[in-house]
Amino acid sequence: MTTPGAYRGLGDIIVTARPYDEYLAMFGLAGEDLLQGPVLDCPAGASGFAPGARARGVDVMAVDPEYAQPPDVLNHRAVADTRYGNQYVRANPHTYAWGFFRDPDDHLARRLAAADAFAADRARSPRRYVAAALPHLPFADDRFRLVLSSHLLFVYPDHLTYSDHLAFARELARVAREEVRIFPLVDTLGARWPLLERLRDDLAREGVGTGVRSVAYEFIRGGDEVLVLRPS
Ligand SMILES: C[S@@+](CC[C@H](N)C(=O)[O-])C[C@H]1O[C@@H](n2cnc3c(N)ncnc32)[C@H](O)[C@@H]1O
Repeated sequence: MTTPGAYRGLGDIIVTARPYDEYLAMFGLAGEDLLQGPVLDCPAGASGFAPGARARGVDVMAVDPEYAQPPDVLNHRAVADTRYGNQYVRANPHTYAWGFFRDPDDHLARRLAAADAFAADRARSPRRYVAAALPHLPFADDRFRLVLSSHLLFVYPDHLTYSDHLAFARELARVAREEVRIFPLVDTLGARWPLLERLRDDLAREGVGTGVRSVAYEFIRGGDEVLVLRPS
C-alpha cells in the first residue's frame, strides 16, 4: 500500500519491477560482467534482474523483506505498485527523462513484463529468493563477487536515517568480495542525497573504498550516477 502525500515525492517505499536490461543500463554492466557470479540483488523487489541473469547462466540470488509474503500476495502487490508508480510518472513527467523508456505506456508495459518474469522465476527457483532486510543479510562475509542495490539507499531519505544508510552500505560491503554498486544517488524528486560525502568518509575510515561513476542511463532526472564500494 502506498500513502500518497505522507512523504515527499513518490511516497512510501514501493515494490518495483525493473527489467533486466534496465539493471544493465543503470548499473553500467555488460552481460558478460555478470557471468563470473555469484551476484546478489538487494533489494530485488519484483525486479526482472534475477530471472534475466539466471536465464543467461549467471549464479544470482535475490533478497527482499517482502519475500516473507506468500507469492500470490507479493505478485499482486508488485502489479499494484507498478501501476501506482506509472501513475506517478504520468502525473510528474517533468521529473523524468525519456530515452530508456519511450513514454509512460512503454514504462508500464516493460515494468509489468518484469513483474511477470519475477513471479514465474520465483515459482521455479524459490530458494534463490531470500526474505531478509538490511542491515542483516543471512550470508557469510565475501559471499558474492558483485552486489547490486537499486532504489532503496538515497532514494527514500524520509524513511531512512543517516545511520540506516551507513549500516546498510556496511552490510552490503561485508557480503561483497569485489564490488557493490548502489544506484541512483538521488531521491524520487531528483535531489542528490546530501550526506553522500559524509558516508564515503565514514566508509573509507572502515577500509571500504568508494567511487562515483556516471552511467549512460537516466530516468529520474539527475539519476545517472552509481556509487561503487570496494571492500578491503
Ligand atoms: C523501489 S523497490 C526496488 C526494487 C528493485 N531493486 C528495483 O529496482 O526494481 C525498494 C525495495 O526495497 C525493499 N526494502 C525496504 N526496506 C528494506 C530493507 N531494510 N532491506 C532490504 N530491502 C528493503 C522493499 O521491500 C522494496 O521491494
